[in-house]
Amino acid sequence: MSDLTKITLPESEIPTAWYNIQPDLPSPAPPVLHPGTGQPVGPDDLAPLFPTALIRQEVSQDRWIDIPGEVLDVYRLWRPSPLYRARRLEKALDTPARIYYKYEGVSPAGSHKPNTAVPQAYYNAAEGTTKITTETGAGQWGSALAFACAQFGIDCEVWMVRVSYDQKPYRRTMMQTWGATVHPSPSDLTSAGRSILADDPTSTGSLGIAISEAVEIAAGSPTTKYALGSVLNHVLMHQTVIGEEALRQLALVDETPDVLVGCTGGGSNFGGLSFPFLREKLAGRMNPTIRCVEPQACPSLTRGTYAYDFGDAVGMTPLVKMHTLGHDFVPPGIHSGGLRYHGMAPLVSHVHELGLVEAEAIGQLECFAAAVTFARAEGIIPAPEPSHALASAIREANRCKETGEARVILTALCGHGHFDMGAYEAYLSGRLEDYDYPSEKVQAALAHLPTVVT
Ligand SMILES: Cc1ncc(COP(=O)(O)O)c(C=O)c1O
Repeated sequence: MSDLTKITLPESEIPTAWYNIQPDLPSPAPPVLHPGTGQPVGPDDLAPLFPTALIRQEVSQDRWIDIPGEVLDVYRLWRPSPLYRARRLEKALDTPARIYYKYEGVSPAGSHKPNTAVPQAYYNAAEGTTKITTETGAGQWGSALAFACAQFGIDCEVWMVRVSYDQKPYRRTMMQTWGATVHPSPSDLTSAGRSILADDPTSTGSLGIAISEAVEIAAGSPTTKYALGSVLNHVLMHQTVIGEEALRQLALVDETPDVLVGCTGGGSNFGGLSFPFLREKLAGRMNPTIRCVEPQACPSLTRGTYAYDFGDAVGMTPLVKMHTLGHDFVPPGIHSGGLRYHGMAPLVSHVHELGLVEAEAIGQLECFAAAVTFARAEGIIPAPEPSHALASAIREANRCKETGEARVILTALCGHGHFDMGAYEAYLSGRLEDYDYPSEKVQAALAHLPTVVT
């Protein structure tokens, strides 16, 4: 066993292809449907929103898709990202477990989101897009896209969920520094936003509402397109650079994971880390338990229903089969803004339904306690989102302490928390509370699921 703390790869080892899990799944994920016809959507349905190259990737059955040289050139700014052995955390927990974390906070925007923002901006620029609209929750995705658009000379307009806009003003300034325009959502700039504000002028917003606003603006102009920071197949595929690098890094120190945990908002960092390992598991080369971790306040995988639903709040997107809390579900203003999404990536939902991955929900107090334990041991202050994965990893390490098992735990530390000091302050001063979403509210939101016409 190696005595390395930081397992790094040379620039020459940046993966040159993304891994597409679709051809390796035991059964295909259900298709995305047109809400009017109930039929699978075709490229023409998606063309107003996305460039052709990304639409092709969304439905591709090719196992590997080459990463364009221009994208690799930008990836070189921070990739390969380091894999750490959390030796100090292991010591603090007094556990025989060996804990590894793949750290994506080294990207310019501070999270895994640029792994897909860069190719999305690249393919848009190549096809003549002049502006990209998007939503952002925690501000991580918006800042990643603002950075990527600056690399390829495209305008970027971001609808930022109101609660995060107020909680995290410096994420907004970061986006503006890279040249983006930022609006709080709901806004009065779109009919979607105006209709939400008419019902509730004090709405704190949701990712679903912000998506409706960004989609509405993109659909109104042929040279404006929309980009989504999670959920879609091509987004998860772009994130597989994380897992491919981690496979190589663990091989360097002769380890295979027994447990892999990742936080799930829309599923992209989880899919990015886990799908290459799931391929290895399906091929019988390793057998890790793979676990999604979500907030108790927004429990789509553990308490939602697996059904066709809209990706946005007002019903403008195609219908996606996923674990959902209902598209008009407005999650409470917990501090993990990136995990406040009513649905889940169809590919993550599908592998969960197939029993290939498991899920657990954890309250924010335990997550912040885990983040503080981690920060005091390892130094890095985690974003609130990956603190969910850390909480699960710590639960696992504590179980190992009880049983004496030296299990290998791998997790994704998908972003730093430097812009989340308001959340840490609330936690450290005892002002943070757990929130268990009431069953009646889950049931009420599910009553509005769309009927699928066939
Ligand atoms: C740091 C971080 N982690 C996780 C997430 C959740 O998204 P996903 O599940 O797509 O990785 C977000 C979303 O904004 C994020 O900013």
